[in-house]
Amino acid sequence: MADAKLTDLRAILRYIPQFREKTFILAVDGGIVTDENFATLLLDVALLWSLNIRVVLVHGAAEQIRSLAEDHDVSASDFDGSGVTDAPTLDLALTAATRLSHKVLEGLSANDLRGACANVITAHPFGIIHGVDHLFTGRVERVDTDLLQSLLGQGVVPVIPPLGFDGEGKTYRVNSDGVAVAVAEQLKAVKLIYITSQDGLIFRGQLIRQVLVEELGKLVSQDGAGFEPEMLSKAQHAMAACQAGVPRVHVINGTLEEGLLGEVFSNHGLGTLIHANEYEDIRPAKKKDIRAIQLLTKQAVEADELVRRTRVMLERALGDYFIVEIDKNPVACVALHVYDDQKQGELASLYVSPAHENQGIGRRLIQFVEKRARERGLTELLALSTQAFTYFQSKAGFVEGRPEDLPPGRRETYERSGRNSKVLVKRLQ
Ligand SMILES: CC(C)(COP(=O)(O)OP(=O)(O)OC[C@H]1O[C@@H](n2cnc3c(N)ncnc32)[C@H](O)[C@@H]1OP(=O)(O)O)[C@@H](O)C(=O)NCCC(=O)NCCS
Repeated sequence: MADAKLTDLRAILRYIPQFREKTFILAVDGGIVTDENFATLLLDVALLWSLNIRVVLVHGAAEQIRSLAEDHDVSASDFDGSGVTDAPTLDLALTAATRLSHKVLEGLSANDLRGACANVITAHPFGIIHGVDHLFTGRVERVDTDLLQSLLGQGVVPVIPPLGFDGEGKTYRVNSDGVAVAVAEQLKAVKLIYITSQDGLIFRGQLIRQVLVEELGKLVSQDGAGFEPEMLSKAQHAMAACQAGVPRVHVINGTLEEGLLGEVFSNHGLGTLIHANEYEDIRPAKKKDIRAIQLLTKQAVEADELVRRTRVMLERALGDYFIVEIDKNPVACVALHVYDDQKQGELASLYVSPAHENQGIGRRLIQFVEKRARERGLTELLALSTQAFTYFQSKAGFVEGRPEDLPPGRRETYERSGRNSKVLVKRLQ
């Protein structure tokens, strides 16, 4: 910490109020538990805990089952708890999972954290699917949330292995990605973070930085083969978590030193963020956002992409403004000015911060404004732009118009400004 900057600390402290007393589920792949960076990861867990963030650790065991099988010359029937688990494989899974849980507990205690490996997953057999008996593979039936809450309430980090138990004391091998979803749902976690050995969800060789659950659903159903099998599982489970009410799911690389904190405490993390609702992060601007809007758009104003707006101007039209927040930080804005007499609306002040460009936020803001304009019964949407006119045309279906298309009062200010912006028009049917 010697060379940590105070500004870093300020950036982190900004997030604290929103996460205090909230639950994060960290789902760690087995391979990460034995990675040399795991100690750093647990240090980060200690930091989260010290900020009153409740952390639950779920871990997998696939990698260790693979290496145990090799060591013992056993041919394992499955590694990750999604296929058939025969008796010898269950045996390997028990050994691997127990050792890994123990390793996690050791690591927690090295950071002065109390941990407990909890038997909180009730499972029943996965059963016979298309004629194939999955034997000792289990399906999560219930999560003992009382026990988990009681541990968390006492300051204990629950550690959950990829094993489930039925009422008769039988053990089943369950998939850890699925356990994490069930636990996140039941504990109403605000974040589920998959910690893997890859940089995030990679689709056809490209890292996805941020994606809406609906868009991810389309990718998975249209071209699931574009993901590696392991990442397809993460994608599917991330979708299931979002659909079950977990607002944000992250997939990050646990071998990177700043992976976890970078993802949680910056508004442009290093991995993949999967989030739930398309317009959830767009909200009306409030008086306290005026300064943030000015700061956000400063560069664009200087580059003459946007008109300079004073505090008074912004204050007067504040009801027209919307901002996009990522983890409580404004990263984009837009306004809809309405000309009721002409049934026209003007989309203005569209801006996306450079760190969040090319993620579809601009398009989403335009769609959002369009939707509002339609709801207001407007028939035409206008936009004025000096440097993004082809964007409005190619990405949002606007066509080039003329100054005469503007409502009279607006045309006057347009002429007076001398900016010579292009006028763009979109009919709303
Ligand atoms: C224009 C702007 C809003 C785009 O936001 P964004 O969230 O990055 O855009 P999206 O992710 O929806 O779309 C990205 C696509 O638009 C293209 N694009 C971005 N800026 C562009 C511009 N000025 N002109 C033409 N195309 C542009 C990108 O190349 C990318 O193309 P691709 O999908 O084919 O790869 C953003 O760059 C910005 O804030 N610019 C400065 C302010 C401005 O000019 N505002 C408009 C005046 S109201």
